Amino acid sequence: MENRQILIDSLPEGKLAESNYKLVSSQVPAIKEGEVLCQTIAITIGAGTRAGLQGSASYAGAPKTGIVMNGTGVARIVDSQCDELSVDDLVVCQSGWQDFSVHKHTQVQKVSDDIDPGHHLGALGTNGLTAYFGLMKIGEPTAGDTVLVSAAAGSVGHMVGQMAKVYGCRTVGVSSSPEKCALLTTRLGYDESVSYLSPDFRAELKNACPDGIDIYFDNTGGDILGAALFRMNEQSRIACCGVVSQYDTSTPAGGPKGIPGLLINKRIRMQGFLVFDYLSEYEAARQQIKAWIDSGELNPLNDDFEGLEKAPAAFVDLLRGGNVGTRIVRVSN
Ligand SMILES: NC(=O)c1ccc[n+]([C@@H]2O[C@H](COP(=O)([O-])OP(=O)(O)OC[C@H]3O[C@@H](n4cnc5c(N)ncnc54)[C@H](OP(=O)(O)O)[C@@H]3O)[C@@H](O)[C@H]2O)c1
Repeated sequence: MENRQILIDSLPEGKLAESNYKLVSSQVPAIKEGEVLCQTIAITIGAGTRAGLQGSASYAGAPKTGIVMNGTGVARIVDSQCDELSVDDLVVCQSGWQDFSVHKHTQVQKVSDDIDPGHHLGALGTNGLTAYFGLMKIGEPTAGDTVLVSAAAGSVGHMVGQMAKVYGCRTVGVSSSPEKCALLTTRLGYDESVSYLSPDFRAELKNACPDGIDIYFDNTGGDILGAALFRMNEQSRIACCGVVSQYDTSTPAGGPKGIPGLLINKRIRMQGFLVFDYLSEYEAARQQIKAWIDSGELNPLNDDFEGLEKAPAAFVDLLRGGNVGTRIVRVSN
């Protein structure tokens, strides 16, 4: 058996390209006492890993070439040298973009086999938890609030909108093309949608939020944040989740106008967060998310690519807005 691996061959200059990656083949690694060998079933591609390649995610360290591209996967244990995990167990691990990976048993999380493995990477994985904690801890939604979400059709965004509806909020999603904006209201449960590509974006945002904005879940930063700031209500909250509008470039733009003046005058709370700030609350959050899926209040979408070799194309396409829901690359059955 071979272990196909996708390496970072060069760091992107400007936009990420498939040619920044290289597919190689190596031997399946052997394991030692206390370790497990995991065969990747699927990996998730998140926009935040582009910040890692840019060097702007301080928690990810400096970007490097010649290493397997990092990524979270769901995997089947195919060999075990520990008592805690057995062959055939399903786990979530930092598989990276490769067929096989070795981990200490403490570094993987055993998960249930009763749902699509993709959900362990989406709704019950980092992105579902990010949507949940950003909205609950920083947004603090109450019925009647107007909640604005950018990258609203994406992995985090499509779940934020649905979760806010559970709390009786009015939701407005921001996306790119007219087709994606239509999906926000027809398929993803948003009350209104606005395209940031429209030349009249600011006026359309104002029309979509006639009572102002109480919570802005910011996945993008950039001009969308700049426009949202001027529509925020007194005592409103901005959850700074990510800056995807500034990742796929070597020359990210500076922050928006109005800070700190608008924050002071309107007593706006603008707070960044990282999902792992809430590690100790993951299990309780997963139970709540699972309950919403079971009750039909949350309908998480996976957006699939087939084949490990397609991972670079899947990542480039995601940064261009090609995904609706969580991008999953299926690697093996
Ligand atoms: N704080 C945390 O702990 C944490 C954890 C996970 C993720 N995140 C952040 O959450 C955000 C969403 O990540 P995700 O993995 O769910 O990705 P995603 O939203 O599924 O995919 C990225 C989306 O960004 C949009 N986009 C791309 N370029 C844009 C631009 N110039 N302006 C506006 N929108 C643009 C595209 O949608 P359109 O078609 O709508 O443009 C694309 O589909 C990212 O900022 C990520 O860093 C934060």
